[in-house]
Amino acid sequence: MAVIDRPLSLGPFDAGRALPLSNEAGWNQLEADWLMMLRLGLGFGFEADGRLVASAVALPYGPVGWISMVLVTAAARRQGLATRLVETAAAALERAGARPALDATPAGEAVYRTMGFQPLRQLTRWQGTGWHAGDAAASVRPARPDDLHWICAMDRSSFGLDRRGVLADLLARPGAPAFAREAKDGFLLARAGRNATHLGPLTAASPAAANALLHTALAQIEGPVIVDAFDDQPALGATLRAAGFTPQRPFARMARGADPLPGNHSLTHAAAGPELG
Ligand SMILES: CC(C)(COP(=O)(O)OP(=O)(O)OC[C@H]1O[C@@H](n2cnc3c(N)ncnc32)[C@H](O)[C@@H]1OP(=O)(O)O)[C@@H](O)C(=O)NCCC(=O)NCCS
Repeated sequence: MAVIDRPLSLGPFDAGRALPLSNEAGWNQLEADWLMMLRLGLGFGFEADGRLVASAVALPYGPVGWISMVLVTAAARRQGLATRLVETAAAALERAGARPALDATPAGEAVYRTMGFQPLRQLTRWQGTGWHAGDAAASVRPARPDDLHWICAMDRSSFGLDRRGVLADLLARPGAPAFAREAKDGFLLARAGRNATHLGPLTAASPAAANALLHTALAQIEGPVIVDAFDDQPALGATLRAAGFTPQRPFARMARGADPLPGNHSLTHAAAGPELG
């Protein structure tokens, strides 16, 4: 495979040809996810024989930028392509004054450690099934477009960064499940995926509020569900286990340098997903 020896810039029009890379890895993204990330962020890739064989995206979130969708097709691995794309994405972020961060799969962690990324928080992907039956918690209602303002403000103080573009996109997707606490002290967004409905971010002022949001979502969603829960929120793990979920794989939240990431992590229960933070 003759790889073109220069990273290319990717834009929203590349979403369709990037999708086979995440499909090959068995990941959950749909073309709508690639479209959102390549619209909001900077995409980089390598081509061989006119085909995209490697990708990385840098999402600017203010003082920190999220590196995501680091994928290399199996036939092009161990040639340094992921390293070069992550360096390109990290350099673009650092030039803009943003510290690079990401959620790493165990395979990715091996690459990023060599590049100065350090693990700061651990997550577990849980997989299970929606009940598609049962009552919504009285404290929870469907989220509406006019909830975006306070949801962004709560995300800004809990996640600690500005990801309004991502939240607006997730909330605007037709038919996507989204839930808000009546008290405006928590929210849960979700999106359809190739393998499962992805629940997250789940942000709430207390474990009880997170529990109510999760139960309401599971009561309304049918079929396979995944949740990327933070390991330092043991109540959520216990709730998921009791709901029949099982751990599928770990992720490490990493950033360049050892300083903690901003935000109030006691409020973040499940991540938006490794590609979104
Ligand atoms: C992880 C992945 C992106 C690595 O791509 P790659 O282009 O093969 O990575 P590189 O060639 O840049 O590897 C750089 C270094 O990382 C380490 N590394 C890479 N893959 C590794 C593996 N499977 N096991 C152990 N170390 C590994 C090695 O130190 C390697 O250097 P070396 O080849 O000189 O020994 C690729 O395997 C992939 O797409 N996997 C599936 C999707 C995935 O997990 N993506 C990461 C998301 S966080």
